[in-house]
Amino acid sequence: VEYDGTRFPAIIFGNIANQLRELNGMTFKESDVFVVAYPKSGTHWCYEIVAMLRNNSSELTKQSPPLIDRLPVEKLRQVSDGVRVSHLLPRHMPRDSIERRCKIIHIYRNPKDVAVSYFNFLKKTKEGELIKDMKFDVFFQMFITDQLHRGSWIDYVKEWTDFKEENVEYPLLNICYENMKKDLRGHVKIIADFLEVKPSEELMDKIAHKCEFQTMSAFKHNNIPDSMCRITEVRDKHIMYRKGEVGDWKNWLTVAQSEALDERIQARNLPLEIHYS
Ligand code: A3P
Repeated sequence: VEYDGTRFPAIIFGNIANQLRELNGMTFKESDVFVVAYPKSGTHWCYEIVAMLRNNSSELTKQSPPLIDRLPVEKLRQVSDGVRVSHLLPRHMPRDSIERRCKIIHIYRNPKDVAVSYFNFLKKTKEGELIKDMKFDVFFQMFITDQLHRGSWIDYVKEWTDFKEENVEYPLLNICYENMKKDLRGHVKIIADFLEVKPSEELMDKIAHKCEFQTMSAFKHNNIPDSMCRITEVRDKHIMYRKGEVGDWKNWLTVAQSEALDERIQARNLPLEIHYS
């Protein structure tokens, strides 16, 4: 469905206008934290790090992260550690969370890898029924012409970076997936500093180890939350954790497709470092 200048997946999100209204009726604590991302940019990865740091633990969660776009507000109120995730644009974030200046971590990823990840993910979900037999080139065309059901990748990162530019003092941290892949331990520290928590060096080592792709995906494959079973028929493994690599797009995109996306990004002047290696 189209709503307020962007798109939402009606099948799983139900009535988005209602959801946004309900979110605007919620109150938060100053200490609450949001991880925001365009889908397939590392939302779950970043969420686990934030949740561990906040809980002073190195245990991976067995639940899906509380996604504010979809969960009923009664459930969202029950989030005890105050960490929630969102794929919403800044203008759709719950009003009180922004007024209270809750901390926000925005994770972004090379959109070429995002497109590949999204294609592979959707094909395994009930919401992806319509693209089951679709070829990647058709899907990619939809991705770069903003026809996918989560709206435009470029608009998403542009609106979040604009939000920070317009609200320089707002506690928002941009994290790049590729940088986090290169230096996970360093990013655990960056995130801890941003959250103003003081974990021991040993705990940060453990968190980094638990959040390595191999460790995390093995754990998640063995602990599939019920909510995941509702969106997919695949019950024997966790479809959120596919390859966790940088640059898989080179196995999928043609030179022409890659250049077409580059041109669109250059035309929008994104103030972000985007890694194409
Ligand atoms: P791939 O499909 O390329 O493997 P999101 O959580 O926003 O839906 O993002 C999912 C993507 O993040 C998937 O990408 C997934 O494998 C990757 N991911 C999840 N955990 C990761 C980790 N610990 N390290 C690196 N990538 C991870």
